[in-house]
Amino acid sequence: MKLSLLAQAVLIPGLAAYVVNNGTQCSLYPESTTHSDRPVDDVPSIQEAFELCGTNGTVTFTQGTFHINTVLRTTNLLNCNVNVQGNLVWGTNVPYWLSHSINVGLQNQSTAWLFGGTNVVLNGAGGSFNGNGQTWYTQNQNNSNQPGRPITITFSNSKNLLVENLQILQPQFWATFITYSQNVTMRNIVVNATSIDEWGTVNTDGTDTWNSQDILLENWTVQNGDDCIAAKGNTTNLHVRNVTCYQGNGMTIGSVGQYLHKPDYVENVLFEDVTLIDSTDGAYIKTWQGQVQGQTSNGDAGGGGSGYVRNVTFRNFDVTNVALPIQITQCIYSENAAKTCDTSKMQISNITWQNFTGTTRYNIAASLHCAKSHPCPAIFFQNVNLTSVNATKGLQLYNTTLRNEVFQCANIKNQNTTSGIGCNHWAPNNFGQSVTMNVQ
Ligand SMILES: *[C@@H]1O[C@H](CO)[C@@H](O)[C@H](O)[C@H]1NC(C)=O
Ligand SMILES: *[C@@H]1O[C@H](CO)[C@@H](O)[C@H](O)[C@H]1NC(C)=O
Ligand SMILES: *[C@@H]1O[C@H](CO)[C@@H](O)[C@H](O)[C@H]1NC(C)=O
Ligand SMILES: *[C@@H]1O[C@H](CO)[C@@H](O)[C@H](O)[C@H]1NC(C)=O
Ligand SMILES: *[C@@H]1O[C@H](CO)[C@@H](O)[C@H](O)[C@H]1NC(C)=O
Ligand SMILES: *[C@@H]1O[C@H](CO)[C@@H](O)[C@H](O)[C@H]1NC(C)=O
Ligand SMILES: *[C@@H]1O[C@H](CO)[C@@H](O)[C@H](O)[C@H]1NC(C)=O
Ligand SMILES: *[C@@H]1O[C@H](CO)[C@@H](O)[C@H](O)[C@H]1NC(C)=O
Ligand SMILES: *[C@@H]1O[C@H](CO)[C@@H](O)[C@H](O)[C@H]1NC(C)=O
Ligand SMILES: *[C@@H]1O[C@H](CO)[C@@H](O)[C@H](O)[C@H]1NC(C)=O
Ligand SMILES: *[C@@H]1O[C@H](CO)[C@@H](O)[C@H](O)[C@H]1NC(C)=O
Ligand SMILES: *[C@@H]1O[C@H](CO)[C@@H](O)[C@H](O)[C@H]1NC(C)=O
Repeated sequence: MKLSLLAQAVLIPGLAAYVVNNGTQCSLYPESTTHSDRPVDDVPSIQEAFELCGTNGTVTFTQGTFHINTVLRTTNLLNCNVNVQGNLVWGTNVPYWLSHSINVGLQNQSTAWLFGGTNVVLNGAGGSFNGNGQTWYTQNQNNSNQPGRPITITFSNSKNLLVENLQILQPQFWATFITYSQNVTMRNIVVNATSIDEWGTVNTDGTDTWNSQDILLENWTVQNGDDCIAAKGNTTNLHVRNVTCYQGNGMTIGSVGQYLHKPDYVENVLFEDVTLIDSTDGAYIKTWQGQVQGQTSNGDAGGGGSGYVRNVTFRNFDVTNVALPIQITQCIYSENAAKTCDTSKMQISNITWQNFTGTTRYNIAASLHCAKSHPCPAIFFQNVNLTSVNATKGLQLYNTTLRNEVFQCANIKNQNTTSGIGCNHWAPNNFGQSVTMNVQ
């Protein structure tokens, strides 16, 4: 409910709550403050604030706790500044979200908040988003890509968008998603998804980019159970720098090539100054196989898509206890069906891994398997120095006869000439993204 300034002057606790609107400035106060602190859905007031002040205005979430119990749709903003001083806490009515989250067009993924516009700043200084994700982690029981499980916030159809100083705790699914956007900067971002029970935080990506260009992501800290940052199809000119990731899957391109009739193009991507601690993967590219397998559902089936991934650089990575720091795989969800791994229609080329230091969990640093159908040209390693944790401590490696750190390759066009990889092992075509033991 909106209050005029006059009403604000006589506002007393106990009154229905509200947006205080002064010209193009809208200040939001939590509804609960006027309902004896009982949780009340703040979404209607939030929607109202964006309607009043979303063009040439400012929307401020003042301090306090805002309950987000229903979907938020704040799109077509123009010249708008959004300040988050309060804490936004999402409701845990799982059946509600499963049937009401807003579709985002990729796979059958959906979001709790669709946000977008032109010349927009979202500043989270002082406040935070809390997705209450534990409910989601527990009910989902480690299953991947549950349809309807919502991305906390999706930036869509945006141009000249700056998102900064934002802390996202316990995201329900991916913390953020950037889609159909151009010139987006996200800086000083913290994402932290941890679970307190036996179920993990699968699919809590820091962010994914899709059908977007000119993206800068810097100063991030992410602790989660999936990709730290992932560039999906049609990402162009992505620059990622100064990111620290704990656990999770590191820096990813993909997966791409999921859709038979929709090519994926990814080019001009730079990941630099990245620290990875206890991650399962590090700096890798994953495409689907060349044939369609099963029904295309929320990420779990598909393939057959064409396109390319080219001109990608991963540089200045410091990795600690990472299971598989460097990888190319072209059959990401069918690695057990080895026959499909050499069929991908995606062309990968011009990929450089430069200045990698640190330790691997097992005896393997890199697995590069390009599809036989599309061998990869212009793949380069410069200054990649990775050693297994045990080797650095003079401890034995369990259950392997291999003495050197494994750099395995297949179908890399320049692998024995200019690549600099130092390939010392054949990369089997069914090598997955989850390494759990030493290579034999
Ligand atoms: C309303 O905004 C104007 C200018 O933006 C400011 O001068 C004035 O103090 C504001 N009024 C209140 C009550 O905040
Ligand atoms: C918003 O600002 C722009 C440029 O300053 C102006 O052209 C436009 O008319 C304004 N729109 C509204 C609804 O005030
Ligand atoms: C990109 O967006 C930023 C705001 O984040 C703006 O300052 C800059 O001018 C935009 N760049 C272009 C080329 O429009
Ligand atoms: C994430 O949250 C957990 C639980 O509160 C905490 O132990 C951990 O240090 C946090 N991680 C980061 C990177 O802040
Ligand atoms: C990155 O974080 C540091 C430390 O908080 C800060 O000094 C620096 O300004 C940040 N960079 C950007 C681009 O915000
Ligand atoms: C990198 O980001 C972290 C915060 O995530 C910040 O503390 C640090 O100062 C940043 N470093 C640079 C060089 O900006
Ligand atoms: C990627 O962009 C191309 C146009 O450049 C379009 O045809 C294709 O459908 C897009 N792919 C996806 C998965 O959206
Ligand atoms: C490759 O990508 C980088 C950004 O990482 C860009 O500066 C460069 O111009 C691109 N090269 C080509 C040939 O497009
Ligand atoms: C790919 O690499 C080749 C050989 O190094 C180079 O001639 C070409 O310009 C590169 N293309 C892109 C898009 O980076
Ligand atoms: C190599 O990477 C490390 C770790 O990220 C960094 O400290 C160092 O400055 C980098 N070296 C060069 C030459 O960029
Ligand atoms: C590689 O790193 C190890 C420590 O992990 C170090 O002892 C060794 O000198 C480094 N090699 C090169 C060529 O930098
Ligand atoms: C590293 O050494 C420890 C202690 O001997 C052993 O338990 C562990 O299995 C070894 N790790 C690997 C990957 O072989």
